Amino acid sequence: MSLLKEIQQVRMDAAVELEKVGDAEALEAWRIRYLGSKGAVKAAMLRLKNVSREEKPALGQAANELKNALSEAFEHRKRRISEGAAPGRRGPAVDVTLPGTRPRIGHTHVITQTIEEICEIFARMGFIVATGPEVEDEHHNFEALNIPPAHPARDPLDNFYIDDKTMLRSQTSTVQIRVMENTTPPVRIISLGRVYRPDTVDATHSFMFHQVEGLYVDEGVTMADLKTCLDQFCKAYFGHEVRTCFRPSFFPFTEPSAEVDIEFHRPDGTAYWVELGGCGMVDPNVLEAVSYDSERYTGYAFGLGIERMVMRKHHIPDIRLLFENDVRFLHQF
Ligand code: DAH
Repeated sequence: MSLLKEIQQVRMDAAVELEKVGDAEALEAWRIRYLGSKGAVKAAMLRLKNVSREEKPALGQAANELKNALSEAFEHRKRRISEGAAPGRRGPAVDVTLPGTRPRIGHTHVITQTIEEICEIFARMGFIVATGPEVEDEHHNFEALNIPPAHPARDPLDNFYIDDKTMLRSQTSTVQIRVMENTTPPVRIISLGRVYRPDTVDATHSFMFHQVEGLYVDEGVTMADLKTCLDQFCKAYFGHEVRTCFRPSFFPFTEPSAEVDIEFHRPDGTAYWVELGGCGMVDPNVLEAVSYDSERYTGYAFGLGIERMVMRKHHIPDIRLLFENDVRFLHQF
């Protein structure tokens, strides 16, 4: 084979083999085979000695070009290997244009989301959020709310007593008293949180659930204000088309009292009513218990079940789903 042919052959072989080189070890073997002291480039250089004078310049140049080209290709491949490139590929091994795998991150519970939403709606109507303790005394849970000692609601079987005078609150109405004790009218608050009752657990009952309590006391507050407020709230939360209904009822701490019902529709279009909670005009005895002048001030109050709202809005058939913390359920909200 002529020297020129040999040089061309070496160049081609070297290029083909270099394409297959995937790691530093293979690259070193390639370097020894082509650029080493006994390698193919060296062999071509040695053969230069035997060529005729006329041929020498051209062949010398070809041999030099071979050496430079292979050295350059070697350096290039070395850089690519240290960057982690796989054989035959262009660019780095990590394809940054592929969509990433997102880690699953947590989020607030659907009840917390609802509490935030309720706060926002009432905030637009001028209510501020108040809080109270879950471990309460009988005074705030019963007496100040016009529930006398002999009242059936105070039965130990219907409440979680901790000792003779202390209990887990059975209603958020306790916060009405706590707020009025420390505020002069006007008062316009909501309070949201857990309440506890030893109910047997089933699809619609739990020993712990959440309520939103509302209280507005000022001069000249009327039942019409109460109806407007709750109707507006229901429309804001469930949609402007919903209808509400106020049914006469009884609570020791309000007079007159009512229950708020809200109308829903089954898939076949038939209507049904769901009770959302109780409300009424604050009983003068309650105002007097916190030293408010019941001749001067009137007020309304309400207490609504938060789970009921969540379950209706999101079509959740069983209250227990809300407390089992199954991520497959929680993930949907
Ligand atoms: N506390 C009552 C309950 O848990 C609900 C309620 C009714 C709250 C009337 C009120 C109210 O503030 O005025 O069943």
